[in-house]
Amino acid sequence: MTPLGSLRLGVNIDHVATVRNARGGDTPDPLRAALMAQEAGCDGITAHLREDRRHISDADIEGLMEVLNVPLNFEMAATEEMQQIALRHRPHAVCIVPEKREERTTEGGLEVAREENKLAHFIAPLRDAGCRVSIFIGADQRQIEAAHRIGAQVIELHSGAYCDAHHEGRFDDRDRELEALREMSAFAHGLGLEVHVGHGLTYETVQPVAAFPEVMELNIGHFLIGEAIFRGLQPAIAEMRRLMDDARG
Ligand code: PXP
Repeated sequence: MTPLGSLRLGVNIDHVATVRNARGGDTPDPLRAALMAQEAGCDGITAHLREDRRHISDADIEGLMEVLNVPLNFEMAATEEMQQIALRHRPHAVCIVPEKREERTTEGGLEVAREENKLAHFIAPLRDAGCRVSIFIGADQRQIEAAHRIGAQVIELHSGAYCDAHHEGRFDDRDRELEALREMSAFAHGLGLEVHVGHGLTYETVQPVAAFPEVMELNIGHFLIGEAIFRGLQPAIAEMRRLMDDARG
């Protein structure tokens, strides 16, 4: 079983690339953001190479693999193209996410239980290549059990519903979603899975999740990149780190 320990912060830099791509040029550079995040003390960088390349590009992934000292968590859909790219680069971790072209962001978790055989075959070569395989899922016992059966080492629980409910003032829903995240973190840890949480986290929502002892990593992007406009990337990350450490302490 993964020992309980300190909480890692993975910074997702996708939306630096979103701003760059809005003008089609080279700035702002996601690699520069990744290096600054690394200097600010983050424990990893997350980047999602989407099928439509709307933000992160193939060249960004190549660059990240060359320059980073912290681990890269490569988010990808379960497609053959992405599997080939992951096998070429062998990042520290791959996080398998569902992907729909028409969505603005990753809306829900992966349906592992329905596609167990296919996913088991899909992740086996990634594991064999030395990548830690993470599966992005909702706080749902059935999905966690399936992720465990297919051989994933890590699950990342989708915190979007909890965060949306908080920011929309639906506090009963928020508390219910938070309780599900808490229960399912403990359940997954009990199966021997390493537990990560991500999506939609902000300064207001991070602490209750950071306080769960079984959670080993939070992956946070959109809010931090937005906050960087106002206070700079490194101070934005430092404040998130401080809140996480306070909650954990
Ligand atoms: N974790 C996963 C698996 C994701 O797909 C995303 C969004 O790309 C994040 C974390 C980060 O979410 P956000 O940008 O809302 O902080």
